[in-house]
Amino acid sequence: MSAALDELCERVLRENWVEGDRDGTAYSYTSPSPGRYPWQWYWDSCFAAIVWRRFDRGRARAELESLLSSADADGFIGHTVFWHRPVSLARLPYYNVRSRRALRTETIQPPLLAWAWSIAVGDPAAEPAIVAHCDWLERNRALSGDGLLWIVQPDESGLDASPKFDSIWGWRAHTRPGFPLLVHHNRRLGFDARRILAAGGPLVCEVVVNVLWCLSRLAMGRPSLTPALIDRLWDDERGLFLDEILPGGERSRVATWSALAPLALPDLPDEIADRLIAHLLDEHRFWTPLPPPSVAIDEPTYDPTGGRGLLRRYWRGPTWINAAWLLWLGLRRRGQDGQAAELTNRLEAAITREGVREYYDPRTGRGLGAKNFAWSTLILEMTDPGTSASGSYL
Ligand code: GLC
Repeated sequence: MSAALDELCERVLRENWVEGDRDGTAYSYTSPSPGRYPWQWYWDSCFAAIVWRRFDRGRARAELESLLSSADADGFIGHTVFWHRPVSLARLPYYNVRSRRALRTETIQPPLLAWAWSIAVGDPAAEPAIVAHCDWLERNRALSGDGLLWIVQPDESGLDASPKFDSIWGWRAHTRPGFPLLVHHNRRLGFDARRILAAGGPLVCEVVVNVLWCLSRLAMGRPSLTPALIDRLWDDERGLFLDEILPGGERSRVATWSALAPLALPDLPDEIADRLIAHLLDEHRFWTPLPPPSVAIDEPTYDPTGGRGLLRRYWRGPTWINAAWLLWLGLRRRGQDGQAAELTNRLEAAITREGVREYYDPRTGRGLGAKNFAWSTLILEMTDPGTSASGSYL
């Protein structure tokens, strides 16, 4: 572990910290990147809280408590919370809000809150607000009787413009011209998954959402969903986990890092984990100079820079640190310590040289996207996994 990296990460978290009061409710959170992302994002906050516990446990708890205090009475928590200023007019057509003055979006992001709480704060099952949140997800999104969750829009996965969604949402996919029409359509249906399915869908059983949901369920002491994930999404022929789509039951075909994300699960059978690791370590697929690219490099849609400016489209090739960390967990658990250390060293070198950026070019390590990006501080989970507070998830 390097003290300089530690300092760099702590500085980013401290500079991004926001505190305030809205109608008598105090809030505090880490903005993902102050210039580009001023509000509180659900999964960004969970990752930030995990790293905050190294520097200030009070802030780790406050970050997650702010998410919880934005919840509805029935436990729903939105993807983005607009604590101190409403969504801008320019962004309104692309945000899943009921109205411009809304406190939050009506859609979800990967539900890792209970898992993050167990790492950063304590026992999530002892918190009624977290129990209510998990119950909301089960009531409203576990629609197939096996406990797995279904999403109504690509951005609910956190992987907004991933090419794996191109064939599902077509010209209404994220950053495509028709995306505002998808938002409009779902807004009319109250962003209610059952109503959206009844109107023809699509709904998607997405891998990353369900991996993080499974980790949350385990943290809550509820039965594991890993067997259900294997039953529904494991493609034994290709050796990848691939999303399923309703109403037709088709599978997405594109190999992205999400196909390997179940490596983060502590109870994934060894033979499946080893097949995923073989993809990860393949230089013609995921093991680039700065792994893992968010899309396999042998996919025709692979775009290592993800575009620029207004043409920026997320999750179409660059390397993201949260994804790297989740796959690294699997390398560690399978005893691939040499490869895990190699991955850590390459990521650390890129971050030290380029700064704490939103994502990186998988070929060169060049920093891309927003600067001072909070969840990229997850690098500390890899450089310094031995911290006494971090034992629980390894
Ligand atoms: C982009 C990412 C999403 C993230 C958000 C804020 O929309 O695709 O995963 O939560 O930015 O960082």
